[in-house]
Amino acid sequence: MKTIRVALGERSYPIAVRSSYRQLPQLLDSLRLPRHGCVVSHERLLRRHGRGLLAVLRRAGWRLDVVTVPETEASKSWAMARQLISRLAATGAMRPPVLFAFGGGVVGDLTGFVAAIYRRGVPYVQLPTTLLAQVDSAIGGKAAIDLPQAKNFVGAFHQPRLVYSNIGLLRTLPLRQRRSGLGEVIKYGAMADPALFAFLEQHLAACLAMEPRAARVMVERSSAIKARIVSQDERDARGIRAQLNFGHTLGHALEAAGRYRRWTHGEAIAIGMCAAAQLSVELGRCPRGQMQRLVALLQAAGLPTRARGVSRAAVRRALAYDKKNLRGRPRWVLLRRLGRVVVSEAIPPTTLQRVVSAYLS
Ligand SMILES: NC(=O)c1ccc[n+]([C@@H]2O[C@H](COP(=O)([O-])OP(=O)(O)OC[C@H]3O[C@@H](n4cnc5c(N)ncnc54)[C@H](O)[C@@H]3O)[C@@H](O)[C@H]2O)c1
Ligand SMILES: [Zn+2]
Repeated sequence: MKTIRVALGERSYPIAVRSSYRQLPQLLDSLRLPRHGCVVSHERLLRRHGRGLLAVLRRAGWRLDVVTVPETEASKSWAMARQLISRLAATGAMRPPVLFAFGGGVVGDLTGFVAAIYRRGVPYVQLPTTLLAQVDSAIGGKAAIDLPQAKNFVGAFHQPRLVYSNIGLLRTLPLRQRRSGLGEVIKYGAMADPALFAFLEQHLAACLAMEPRAARVMVERSSAIKARIVSQDERDARGIRAQLNFGHTLGHALEAAGRYRRWTHGEAIAIGMCAAAQLSVELGRCPRGQMQRLVALLQAAGLPTRARGVSRAAVRRALAYDKKNLRGRPRWVLLRRLGRVVVSEAIPPTTLQRVVSAYLS
């Protein structure tokens, strides 16, 4: 079975896409990690899917502690990081445990953050269980908690030792979550993989149902793109990793303007991708037909393509705060054609304002 690699010298690691946890112990053994760990997860998720995971690891000789956190973004907090660290410190072991993040992006970000700072960094393993986490947040080593002022404001780059995506778990995701993850997969197709894009167009129902073959294609191809880009630009310093932000300039602003309740991440970036594609068309950088295909696929997936009922002022404020604007120029990822994007910091402000306004109603 294919294993994808994030190539970062001594920080390199594999991404395994599998349909059970059977091969996890063997992969962990190859990393020569101590066989004691701490699994971070949610109570409900553990009840639903955790038994198999814990049994496989314990049978292989792992000693495991289990810590649960509430199922909300609020778990990405100092308070929760402190609790987790106290729990780790209380075990008093000479060799720190391997942390396992068993959950979506919330668990992954919190666990990665704690792994980055506890005893100046301990190994951790991502066991992502949502589509968004399998295709995106578990890969690339960005780990952060939120501050009341802004999301992901305290964090670190700390790469996991292994990402093991069990696609068998995705079928229990609620529909809104599946659609939201699909938004991110559509992004990968649009920015880097025309064959993936065409696959999504042809097999949308199977993709939404998380059927095994469709789920495998989505997770493998998206992971491969993210792995390639992270390998080239780990710290987001060369303008390559920025390509992953197709749809995210406006998407992040919408999430903030909607106080992270109005839209899920995938919904917000769906609208953001439409606006970015429209901008690309108006700037003469992209054929209109390509944009229309993108909009049609997002609509068919049940994702929004326009932001209704949002305060324009709030979006504008959020755009101005966008971290990508720190150098004073808005950075947009433009679509050239399906499968290719270009990062631009030279968008004429009047065109930008007009296009963005047209997507807010
Ligand atoms: N580090 C990064 O690079 C990066 C990238 C994108 C997003 N993120 C972060 O990811 C977070 C969002 O992650 P998310 O969308 O995975 O949401 P999430 O972690 O909040 O999970 C969503 C819900 O799905 C449930 N769930 C998880 N797996 C399930 C399964 N198999 N079946 C049924 N229910 C399941 C969870 O218990 C939770 O209630 C945000 O905090 C965001 O900032 C990080
Ligand atoms: Zn995203």
